[in-house]
Amino acid sequence: MVQRETWATRTGFILAAVGSAVGLGNIWRFPFVTGEGGGAAFLLVYLLFVALIGFPAILVEFVVGRRTERNPVGALLELGGDAWKYVGAIFIVTGFVILSFYSVVAGWFIRYFLEGFRGSYASHLAGYEDIAAEAGEPTAAIMFGELSTGLDAFFFHTLFMVLTIGVVALGIRRGIELAVKVMVPAIIVLLVGMAVWAFTLPDAGAGYSYYLSPEFGVIVDNWAELLPAAAGQAFFTLSLGMGVMITYASYLGEDRNLTKDGVTIIGFDTGIAFLTGLVVFPVFFSAGITEPGDGGAGAIFISMTDAFATIGGGHLLGLLFFGTVAIAALSSAISLLEVVTAYVIDEKGVERWKAALGMGGIIYLLGVPVTYDLIFLDLLDGFADGVLLILGALLLVILVGWITPKLAVQELEKGIGDLGGLGAAWIWAIRVPVLLVLVVSLYLGVVDYVE
Ligand code: PFF
Ligand code: NA
Repeated sequence: MVQRETWATRTGFILAAVGSAVGLGNIWRFPFVTGEGGGAAFLLVYLLFVALIGFPAILVEFVVGRRTERNPVGALLELGGDAWKYVGAIFIVTGFVILSFYSVVAGWFIRYFLEGFRGSYASHLAGYEDIAAEAGEPTAAIMFGELSTGLDAFFFHTLFMVLTIGVVALGIRRGIELAVKVMVPAIIVLLVGMAVWAFTLPDAGAGYSYYLSPEFGVIVDNWAELLPAAAGQAFFTLSLGMGVMITYASYLGEDRNLTKDGVTIIGFDTGIAFLTGLVVFPVFFSAGITEPGDGGAGAIFISMTDAFATIGGGHLLGLLFFGTVAIAALSSAISLLEVVTAYVIDEKGVERWKAALGMGGIIYLLGVPVTYDLIFLDLLDGFADGVLLILGALLLVILVGWITPKLAVQELEKGIGDLGGLGAAWIWAIRVPVLLVLVVSLYLGVVDYVE
C-alpha cells in the first residue's frame, strides 16, 4: 500500500481550507442572494446561521476526516457501517453539481479579467450604451448579458476546468498553499480599498441601510424563505455539507487545534463576504439600482464594472480584482474536484491523474448547458445549495451526534486537551437544536426548489 499523502507544511491544511472556503461563494453568490433575500434581513439570518450551525458543523467534518484518514465515502463507511457509504455517494453527486456551474461562473471572471487587457472598463461599457438605451437597462447589465452565455462562456468554462483538472492531477502538495498565501491577503486589501471608495459615493447611505439595518418584521414574515436561503449560502460559502473539510482533514498527520482552525476559516470567509457587501450595495444604490435582487447572478459583475469604469485607476483595479477572484475560484474548485478524485483513488484504486481527468471530464460536460442558458445555473445551484448541501450536513450531524459521539469528542480533544463540559455541549448542540434547524431548512429548501 502506498503511503497516504499529507500536507507538506504545518500550515498547509489551514491554507487549503481557507482557499476552499474563500471563493465565488463570498464574492459572486453572497451579494446576489443577499439582494434576493431583501438585504439586511438576509444578512442577519445568514450570520446567525454561520455562527450557530456552521461552526459546530465544520468541527463535525474535521473530526470525521482526521479520525478516519479517508475520503468521505470511506470515512462514513468506517464510522457508520455499510449503509453510510450511500451518504458518501451524495457528497460525490453534490461535488459534480456544484463544480459544473462553478466553473462557468469562474470562467466569467477570467473573461472580465481579460477584457481589462483589451481596453478600460469604461470603454467596454461605452460599447454597450446604444443597446442599453434601447432596452432601458443599465449598460453594465447589458454587458453581462452579452458575456455570460455563448461561445465565450463555453471557452472560458473549458479553460477553467482544464486548469482545475491540471492542479488536482498533480497532487495536493503543490500549488494550493502558495496560491492561498498570496490571494487571500490580496482580496482583503482590494475589497477594503473598494469599500472605502464606495463610502464616498453619493447614495452610499441608502446602500448601507439596505444592507445593514434589518427590519425584524421582514424576518418574521419571510422566515420560510430566508432560512433555507441562508442555510444554503452558509454551507456553500464554508465548503460544508459535501465532504471537502472531511477530505482536507484526512490529510492531517498531526494534532492541530481544530476549534481554532474552524474559527480562523469561518472568520476569513465571513469577513470577505461581508466586505463584498460593503462594496456592492453602495455602488448599486448610487447607480440607481434600488432592487439589488434583480441583478441576479450578474450582480457583482454589474456593480464592479460600473465601479471600475468610474474611479481613477479603475482599469488596473479591475484587472486585479477579476484576476484575484479567478484565482480564489480555482482554489475552491480544486477542493471540489479533490473530494471526487480522492474517492476514486481510495476506493477504486485508480491512479490520481486518471481519476482527476475522468471525473473532471464528466463535470465539465455537465456544466456546458449553463453556458447556453442561465436557467441551468439556477437549476443546478438551487438543487446543490437548497437541497444537497443541507442534506449532507444533516446526515453528518446525525452520524457524529448520535452514532459516534464519544469518538468525536476524543478526536476533537487531540491538539486541544480535555474539553470537559464543552465536548458534551457540542454533542448536545448538534444532536438536537442544530439537527432540528437542519431538518426544517431542508424541508423548506425542498419545497422552495420544487416550486
Ligand atoms: N466555498 C466555496 C466558495 O465560497 O466559493 C465554494 C465551495 C467549495 C462549495 C467547496 C462547496 C465545496 F465543497
Ligand atoms: Na466562501
